[in-house]
Amino acid sequence: MVLKHIPYQFTILLGGLLTLYSSQFLSAQILNYSSTAYPSTSWINNPTQMANGTTDLAFLTPILLSGNDGPRFICGFFCNTDRSSCLFGVLIFQNSHSPARENTMMQFPKLVWVANRNHPVQLNTTLQLRQDGDLVVADSDGTVVWSSNTRGKPVSGLNLTEMGNLVLFGRNNETIWQSFDHPTDSLLLGQKLVPGQKLIASVSESNLSQGLLSLSFNHHDGLVAYVDSSNSPQIYYMSGFNGENPLVEFNNGSFYGWDIPPTSVAQFMKFEPDGHLRVYQWAGINWREVADLLRTEAGDCGYPMVCGRYGVCTNGQCGCPDAAKYQSSFFRQMDFRHPNLGCSPVTPISCDYAKDHILLELNNTYYFAFDSSLNEQRTELEDCKNTCLSNCSCKAAVFVHHQWVNSYACNASQSNCSRTIMRSNGTSKGSCLLLNEVFSIINNDNYAVSIWGDSSLFIKVQSSYVEKPKRTKVILASTLGTLFAVLCIVGICFVVMRKRLKESNETEVDFLGQVPGMPTRYSYEMLKALTEDFSRKLGEGGFGCVYEGIIENGTKIAVKCIDGFGQVKDSFLVEVKTIGSIHHVNLVKLIGYCSEKSHRLLVYEYMANGSLDTWIFGGKRNLPLPWHVRRKIILDIAKGLAYLHEDCSQKIIHFDIKPQNILLDSNFNAKVSDFGLSKLLEKDQSRIVTKMRGTPGYLAPEWLSNIITEKVDVYSFGIVIMEIICGRKNLDWSMTEENRHLLSLFKIKAAEEKLQDMVDQKSEDMLINIEEVLDMMSIAAWCLQSDFTKRPSMSLVVKVLEGLVAAETNLDYDFTYSSVISTFTGADQEQQVVDDAATPLLPSILSGPR
Ligand SMILES: *[C@@H]1O[C@H](CO)[C@@H](O)[C@H](O)[C@H]1NC(C)=O
Ligand SMILES: *[C@@H]1O[C@H](CO)[C@@H](O)[C@H](O)[C@H]1NC(C)=O
Ligand SMILES: *[C@@H]1O[C@H](CO)[C@@H](O)[C@H](O)[C@H]1NC(C)=O
Ligand SMILES: *[C@@H]1O[C@H](CO)[C@@H](O)[C@H](O)[C@H]1NC(C)=O
Ligand SMILES: *[C@@H]1O[C@H](CO)[C@@H](O)[C@H](O)[C@H]1NC(C)=O
Ligand SMILES: *[C@@H]1O[C@H](CO)[C@@H](O)[C@H](O)[C@H]1NC(C)=O
Ligand SMILES: *[C@@H]1O[C@H](CO)[C@@H](O)[C@H](O)[C@H]1NC(C)=O
Repeated sequence: MVLKHIPYQFTILLGGLLTLYSSQFLSAQILNYSSTAYPSTSWINNPTQMANGTTDLAFLTPILLSGNDGPRFICGFFCNTDRSSCLFGVLIFQNSHSPARENTMMQFPKLVWVANRNHPVQLNTTLQLRQDGDLVVADSDGTVVWSSNTRGKPVSGLNLTEMGNLVLFGRNNETIWQSFDHPTDSLLLGQKLVPGQKLIASVSESNLSQGLLSLSFNHHDGLVAYVDSSNSPQIYYMSGFNGENPLVEFNNGSFYGWDIPPTSVAQFMKFEPDGHLRVYQWAGINWREVADLLRTEAGDCGYPMVCGRYGVCTNGQCGCPDAAKYQSSFFRQMDFRHPNLGCSPVTPISCDYAKDHILLELNNTYYFAFDSSLNEQRTELEDCKNTCLSNCSCKAAVFVHHQWVNSYACNASQSNCSRTIMRSNGTSKGSCLLLNEVFSIINNDNYAVSIWGDSSLFIKVQSSYVEKPKRTKVILASTLGTLFAVLCIVGICFVVMRKRLKESNETEVDFLGQVPGMPTRYSYEMLKALTEDFSRKLGEGGFGCVYEGIIENGTKIAVKCIDGFGQVKDSFLVEVKTIGSIHHVNLVKLIGYCSEKSHRLLVYEYMANGSLDTWIFGGKRNLPLPWHVRRKIILDIAKGLAYLHEDCSQKIIHFDIKPQNILLDSNFNAKVSDFGLSKLLEKDQSRIVTKMRGTPGYLAPEWLSNIITEKVDVYSFGIVIMEIICGRKNLDWSMTEENRHLLSLFKIKAAEEKLQDMVDQKSEDMLINIEEVLDMMSIAAWCLQSDFTKRPSMSLVVKVLEGLVAAETNLDYDFTYSSVISTFTGADQEQQVVDDAATPLLPSILSGPR
């Protein structure tokens, strides 16, 4: 395994070592190197020492060595297992006293200072202590990778002190340069952190380059830990200035007021990639963590990198902002096996498409940088959001309502302080924090972080993104410059530009999903993913196919493709807005939509029991519904329609009431679907009556006239009642001629007073409740009056069904007039949906074959 990359001699040596009989590899105890060196010396990086590293073997080129008992230090090159990447620095390790360990490798030396952390070097690199006083790491071709910048200074030598400090000293032993003044991510006993210096954590355990987290000290804020990015630091820890400890010095037993176990064995402090500041101590066979400083108020979730960028931390567990709580998926995990690596936006934020930026609200979340960045400027929530939306460099806004007042109370000796939080007078103002970069987010559902009020995070996402049309450049070659060619090119360009312009106009639509309760905008790609490439077809309606999908939280959805509406652009969004704003328990809820290029899709709530037709005359008719369920379904439809007709701000005529458009949830609650869609067909209101819509068999007779009102829905509803009661279609071509048309039969049976003959015999329950069933049939007859002015309104039907009002009894059972229309399309009526708005209603069709 490891041996693969190691040269031949090395393999032999390693083999010898592993059998513990070789003395080629010196044990830590008998290393013999000096601790001091003098100018005009250079050392080549050619590893001679192996060590047990963190995960693998490491290779060392020792240069200087210090310490005797207990902690020891090596200055030299430290290479990874395949020796492809080496760093020059100072390592700490524990001297082993045990004779039994004499032949073992140096155990787990740790880098506590690195010269060239951002520029790892290879073998044959040299360290040069030059005559001119400079200490230099140079590549084999002479390139300087790192320098102490002490050229021209009177350097007399290089010394590695007993504390692990690498010092360039002068003639009088004065310090000219020392590694303690240039800390990387670690502190050693006796080392200070002074204002102007900072510890910078590495990118990760394996990549030792400078990461984004810094820890610094100043006399105003004390110790401050922060993400150092985009010139606006995000602070996650601030100690406040501790007057008693103006010095931040790592002492035997303490650091800036924190107690650390005193020890005589090796100990060091490291600012780690996860944002923790930990103290490690040698514990016989390995290092042990003895202190974890910088505790944040939010516990494990309070560190910026705990869940990576855009990761949401819930009790130490990581997830993406979409999971469970939020409907659509704007983020995906960088690596689903390692959720702590964070999330990335599915569609990157593009400043060219700022119009499509929306803010995703994450309720009850908190952001680590909030407290420390809190300025006392108070703004309204909307201002906060708008400021973020209007500036492309803003990636998220944190808003905290000032519902709480925070006060500190301390006793006389100041030794015991407590924080009291009291509710203040209601105010819509709060504090607003804008973020240029989003790191881990704290899920504060259980109010783990005591803050001043409710806080929410609004993350900016790109709701859709279309490649920017590239400018068409036409280079005219003068040699081909005939006028004809020019005209052709210009002509083509014009067409192309126009088309592109049209396409780009199409994408520049305003977003409406920000408003709570409004449908979410999905990208076509996303819907494709959610429906597994439109693989599970639920059905086919008058407007296109419906597919099953599952959104991230496991909720099922029904995705309806709207066919043939490529030409309808603006009106689509207007209608989506209208439909999306309609909420009623008996109307299928629109939860999202997609309008991208020529794709028009609507996302609805999923209805577990499918459409009504399958239960009354489709595949499930062998499971006949009992009367009380049918009755409830009729009432539900009536309520849904009454709402559309009378309670919406804008009257909505459905135009296509039929069992296929009545959906049933898992409890057989009926909901009307497809409402508002027929309007999409027709923008030109003046032509509304010249074109017939709806489904033959359910069309009201007044389609012959020019007066179309919501009563066309009442008529269709009457037919649906009859179909529910009779358990058959209005037009059933499998029946004998006299039975074929339900309404004709209705007239005959009413005249014969044998209406019970028509009732669905599959359910005994129907005959037991025959009185109620017959009452319902007379309501149906009322709805089917050929004179539409005699039909009840849907709200009246609801009242009758609820027993509040008596039904009309003076009814005309002559529905024959309507049968002309109802039969004109012939046998295959399901396929013959009149969905083509361009089909004019011709008298010849209407009076067609019976
Ligand atoms: C270490 O090396 C020096 C010379 O390089 C030598 O004089 C000394 O005896 C050695 N010490 C041990 C313990 O081997
Ligand atoms: C490296 O350290 C591990 C853990 O302490 C130990 O089991 C292993 O034997 C060591 N390897 C060598 C070659 O000393
Ligand atoms: C290092 O230097 C030696 C001697 O100059 C040479 O043989 C070897 O190929 C060099 N190795 C690398 C990796 O440059
Ligand atoms: C280490 O991280 C730095 C900064 O993120 C990156 O530029 C570099 O490529 C990384 N190195 C490796 C070996 O992954
Ligand atoms: C640290 O303090 C402990 C006890 O006070 C002492 O035993 C130990 O030698 C000290 N270590 C150093 C490095 O001074
Ligand atoms: C967040 O809270 C507000 C007010 O409490 C509410 O209107 C909104 O629907 C909530 N949003 C989510 C995504 O839960
Ligand atoms: C946008 O935000 C950045 C960073 O917060 C700020 O520097 C810049 O001035 C802002 N631009 C505008 C136009 O407000």
